[in-house]
Amino acid sequence: MKILITGGSGYIGSHTCIELLRTGYDVVIADNLCNSNYDVVKKIISISGKNVTFYRTDISNKEDLHEIFTRHSIDGVIHFAGYKSVVESISKPLEYYKNNVSGTITLLEVMKEAGVKKIVFSSSASVYGHQNTPLDEMKAKSPGSPYALSKSIIEDIICDLCNAGWDACILRYFNPAGADESGLIGENPKGIPDNLMPYIIRVALGEFPFLKVFGDDYDTVDGSGVRDYIHVSDLAKGHIKALERLFSNKGLGIFNLGTGKGYSVLEVIKSFEKNTGIDIPFKIFPRRAGDIASCLSDTRKSSTILGWKPEKSIDDICLSGWKFVKNNCLSKL
Ligand code: NAD
Ligand code: UFG
Repeated sequence: MKILITGGSGYIGSHTCIELLRTGYDVVIADNLCNSNYDVVKKIISISGKNVTFYRTDISNKEDLHEIFTRHSIDGVIHFAGYKSVVESISKPLEYYKNNVSGTITLLEVMKEAGVKKIVFSSSASVYGHQNTPLDEMKAKSPGSPYALSKSIIEDIICDLCNAGWDACILRYFNPAGADESGLIGENPKGIPDNLMPYIIRVALGEFPFLKVFGDDYDTVDGSGVRDYIHVSDLAKGHIKALERLFSNKGLGIFNLGTGKGYSVLEVIKSFEKNTGIDIPFKIFPRRAGDIASCLSDTRKSSTILGWKPEKSIDDICLSGWKFVKNNCLSKL
């Protein structure tokens, strides 16, 4: 089966491509490289030992997308392409709605015209907003940022399409982190990272003198924020399960992809230090605007219906994330 992967050279997309190729799927990638580079495609090929077809194009480019669907007999689409920063979306809402929502509408139009009505969509736990955890898929959505709202709108559009005969899996990721065991691909955000693990890694590299811990007065195990960190390779395997469901079931499925286990910021720092032997200096700062105390997945639905269970630990996340950066970034310092 041949799957079109939008955003396939990005962080989660590249790990998913490897898992797809290992499982025997053929992969076509469409990515405009706004947040990735072509080297990743070469690494996907080298890790998997299989070929992929890559198109450098934007999901809002209807002509290019038509061309891809004409050249390839695509069975389904996994749609990763989009902007992903909660913080940035607050200052650039239009850019987020245009790229994420309008871009997706164009992709869906081309899929409809090509007669391909099967899609797996990368959504986010941020659609739940501020609510008590663990979060199950039946909870009402309450998106708290333009980014989260862009995801929620796309979910609703896909839901309407399923009422009109499409089949879809919407996957709500919790906090993806870590890297492929090869150490060849991983997360390497441009500029100053917003997210915890990439920031810890920059401190470990000596690029920043300390980590700012945003808040130590939450109602959590040690006062710092608690999150559900999911290893990106486990997440990638979740997409294989989602595709299996997509090709064997009609209609819509919405699934959380998280572990159900939470770690505080201070616990993540300790795990990173234990696994790498590198000290991570930190200072306590006020709470970050918009943050919540704890965000954990209810994993029952993904476990029982998708048959998906994450296997990797927070230690695996720290070790693999550091291995990737050591291999790829240390020499550049
Ligand atoms: P990423 O930025 O590494 O990957 C996204 C890819 O999409 C990039 O390669 C980028 O070049 C490409 N892209 C962006 N806009 C495009 C467009 N208009 N046309 C073509 N290509 C385009 O991000 P990621 O971490 O791999 O996230 C993938 C998806 O998962 C995103 O939709 C994101 O919102 C969602 N998600 C990510 C997280 C996370 O913490 N990483 C959490 C929840 C959900
Ligand atoms: N944190 C720090 N210092 C930092 C960065 C983060 O203390 O420099 C803390 C945060 O306050 C929070 C925890 O680390 O308590 C995790 O923060 P992240 O920014 O790594 O992740 P978030 O849970 O805020 O958000 C992430 C993604 C969103 C996604 C959401 C749910 O950034 O895109 O998970 O999936 F929507």
